[in-house]
Formats: sequence, structure tokens, C-alpha cells
Amino acid sequence: MPRTIKILDTTLRDGEQSPGCSMKPAEKLEVARALERLRVDIIEAGFPASSPGDKDAVAAVTGQIKDCAVAALCRCRDSDIYAAWDALRNAAAPRLHVFLATSDLHMEKKLRMTRKQVLDSAADAVRYARKYCTDVQFSAEDATRSDRDFLCRVFEAAIAAGAATVNIADTVGYALPEELSALVRYVFENCKGIEGVTVAVHPHNDLGMATANALAGVSAGAGQAEVTLCGIGERAGNASLEETVMGLRTRQNALDASCRVETRHIYRSARLLQSIIGLQVQPNKPIIGKNAFAHEAGIHQHGVMADRLTYEIISPESVGIPQREMVLGKHSGRRAFEETVKSLGFTLDEGELQTVFNAFKALADKKKAVTDSDIEALIKDSGREAEGYYRLESFVINSGNTIDGTAILKLTVGQPAAESGQEASPLSPDALDSESSVTLVAFGDGPVDAAFKAVNSLAGEFTLKSYSLNAITDGGDALGEALVRIENGKGQYTGRGVSTDIIEASIKAYLNAVNKSL
Ligand code: KIV
Ligand code: ZN
Repeated sequence: MPRTIKILDTTLRDGEQSPGCSMKPAEKLEVARALERLRVDIIEAGFPASSPGDKDAVAAVTGQIKDCAVAALCRCRDSDIYAAWDALRNAAAPRLHVFLATSDLHMEKKLRMTRKQVLDSAADAVRYARKYCTDVQFSAEDATRSDRDFLCRVFEAAIAAGAATVNIADTVGYALPEELSALVRYVFENCKGIEGVTVAVHPHNDLGMATANALAGVSAGAGQAEVTLCGIGERAGNASLEETVMGLRTRQNALDASCRVETRHIYRSARLLQSIIGLQVQPNKPIIGKNAFAHEAGIHQHGVMADRLTYEIISPESVGIPQREMVLGKHSGRRAFEETVKSLGFTLDEGELQTVFNAFKALADKKKAVTDSDIEALIKDSGREAEGYYRLESFVINSGNTIDGTAILKLTVGQPAAESGQEASPLSPDALDSESSVTLVAFGDGPVDAAFKAVNSLAGEFTLKSYSLNAITDGGDALGEALVRIENGKGQYTGRGVSTDIIEASIKAYLNAVNKSL
């Protein structure tokens, strides 16, 4: 019987804290629900002491998630631990996750603490966390560059103080797979009390080895792997959930390990995250990239037609890649539409369904065949557009190769009443004291630049860091998806917009990003 490995997903903490990946509380909740559907074992929902917003988001996730443990991160400080507990207290299965660096480099240069101080502080923090919560995880930051014996002493102290999980973090993605498995083995052999707790591994991807390291850790006996959807995270990211889980599933016999994740929800969950943070993964990204199951070479196509196993080690169905595209048109009724929405795995309430149905009808007027991918895009887009502080009403563009681009934008500005629950507040620079319409005009280097400048003239100075346009489906009438990343000196924000008109998609994406910055 293979060992069952716990999957801790930290998309909402380690992933979310990386530039351009921030999410609004409602978006975090959506991702948390997808993770629960995936059946990860633990959702790390955030770092409550880092900001009141993060604390509220953790509390919101905690209140909704029933089938997974929910963890919150804290430094070895009583105030952090209390803030995390305060956010977690209503969780069905709360976990307090305390961490402290154990490498000489981090202790000397960053913490300015001696080994003795780190040892005591780790034990004190775990002991304090145990006052509130029976499930406490201790993570050694930069464990893979730490003195092995000192690491073991810190783990022993944490275990003696009540930690149920100790985590080996490869914080800077430095370890080679064989080094990580050797370290896991060393910890098992040299740490008192280790047999009674779970050993976790937390790989980062700086050398592109995060998944290999997660699996190497598991093969050496680790009982928990820490991952993020699409591998998002600091710098080059974390071990990706989809790769680690499919590695476990596909090589279960070799690893003698498996996990409880429902792999058929992987693709949809990854798509949801991508649409929320405006991420476009590379086409050759394993499992979820556009080309991950595409066979181009004649020999390969021939082989796959004869028997898929010749060139496919994973079936697209096993990760939930839709195999058929159902096509709806302008004569399709609400019933058929509702069935398609359900078959795509979305649960919408009456109001949401009506909003998306209206958007579908508008799209069907412009586009002969509306596919599953189009409908998925509309669902992901609809709520977001209606919620933002700045919303596009209409636009007129004038452009040509001998003139400057000109954009005239009409925006609705103000918090939608349903969202704010109160009278709208003046967030815009020039004190718009209620929801109002504003017309903006700007010139630019082409129509998109002009439109973005028009938004900046009201919302503030944002610099465009990246911009891309993709067709969601094939054909000249395809829905276009624009992704932007902007910066304003306080942070980077990503936005996504969808329309059959690429300028409209671009303006929506820009407004989506600006709205996130508020
Ligand atoms: O990478 C890291 O060290 C972390 C810890 C907080 C576990 O994310
Ligand atoms: Zn990390």
C-alpha cells in the first residue's frame, strides 16, 4: 500500500505574496474553493500579521472551507501567532504555521540572532502556538543551507514543544534533488522524536528543480509536499501542484506514495488562478500548458493514433482538460446554457447565471459559434467587470498610421452599491463623491496607449510593465483575452479583460489591474 502524502497548497500565501499575484479577498475565496474541490490536505491561506486585509482574507477562507485544514503563517512572535489564531479560530481544522531561519547566513545577517536564540525562539513560539491550536507546523527557513546538526536540534526543540509537522524549506531553490533526499534521510536518522511527526518539504524553483525536489523529498520519506497552483511564488516560484501531484500519480509505484488530490480538477483550477491573476503560462508548461498534450510530429501523431500510451504518459482527461467543445449559438436557450455551465463545473446563483447568460447572448450576436472556452471566459470575466471601482461604459478610438491614436473613454466611477453596502466613497483623485460617469480623452502612441493614458489621467500614474493579447478560441471572430501588468510605485498589479474587440479587452484588462491597486 503506497504512503499517502499530504499536499499543503500555499498559492494563497507564498504564491500570492509574489509581485503581480495579489488577489482580492473574494478572489482568494474562489481559489480556496477550487483547492477544496481538488482535495488538497491543507490550504495555507495567508500571513495574517502582514496586513489587516490578509488577516480578513484568511478569516473569510476559514469560514468557508470544511474539507481541508486551513493554515496561517506566523513569525516566531506572540503577536503574529495571536493574529494568525484570531483569523483561524473558526476553521474546521486550523493549523498554525510558525517559521524561523536556521542557516548561519540568515541568522547572522537577517535575524541578528545566535544559534541559541534561534533554538529557544523556535521552541517558545511552538509552545505558545500550542496554547491555541493542537496542529502546529514549524518551518526552518533556508533549511537546505543550514548546518544539518543545528537543523536537527531546532527540529527536536520544536517537536518537544509540540510541533506535529517540521518543514525543510529550500527557500532559495538551491538544493539538488539528491541533496534534498539526503537531508530528509539525515533528519529522520538524527532527530529525536521525528518518528512521531510529519516531515514536510517546501521547494522553490530557482534552478528549475522544485518539482524534482518535492518528489525527491517524498521518496526519502517526507510525508508532506508544499506546492502552489501553476508554481506561482517568490522569484521563480514554488513546486507546482499540478506537476508534483501528477508526478505522484504517474510514478506512484516508483515512489511508493500517492495523495488524495482529485486530479480531474487540476486544469480548471489552474485556469481559474490564471484568469484571476492575469497569468499566461508558457505553452510547453507541463500538465496545463497549451501544448502539454499536443502531438505535432508525424511519427508521434501516428504512434498516438495507434495507441496513446506510445507518447502520452498522462491522459488529458485525468487532469480535466475538456475533450469536446460544446457549441452554442444565438438560438440556444437558457436551459442549454445552464447545462453547459454546470458541465463546466461552475455553480452560479440565479443572479450570476443571468448576468453571464446576458453576456453570452451579446457574444452570440457577434460570434456564430460560442464554445465552452468562450463561456468559461465569460463566467470568469462577468463578476470582475461589474465589481470594479472604475468600469468601462463605452469608448471611441481613432487611429491610423499617419496620426496619433486618440481615445475617448466613458467610465463609471464609484463603488457599486451592492459591494460597498453604503454610500460610495470618493476614491478617485478629484473627489468624485458618488458613482458617476466620467469622460476622458487622451492621445497616445496608438489606440491602446491612448486608452491607457486616458485611464491614467483619472486613476493616477501607472506604468505598463507587460501587455499581451491572445485568442481564446480559433477564428476571426474569436474572443480576445488581454493581460496587463502595471506598476505605480506601491506595487505591481495584473489585470485581464475579454472581448471580441481587442481594444475593449485591453481597456478592461487595464481597468481590472487599476481596480486591484485600490
Ligand atoms: O520559502 C520559505 O522559506 C517559506 C517558509 C515561510 C516556509 O515560504
Ligand atoms: Zn516559500
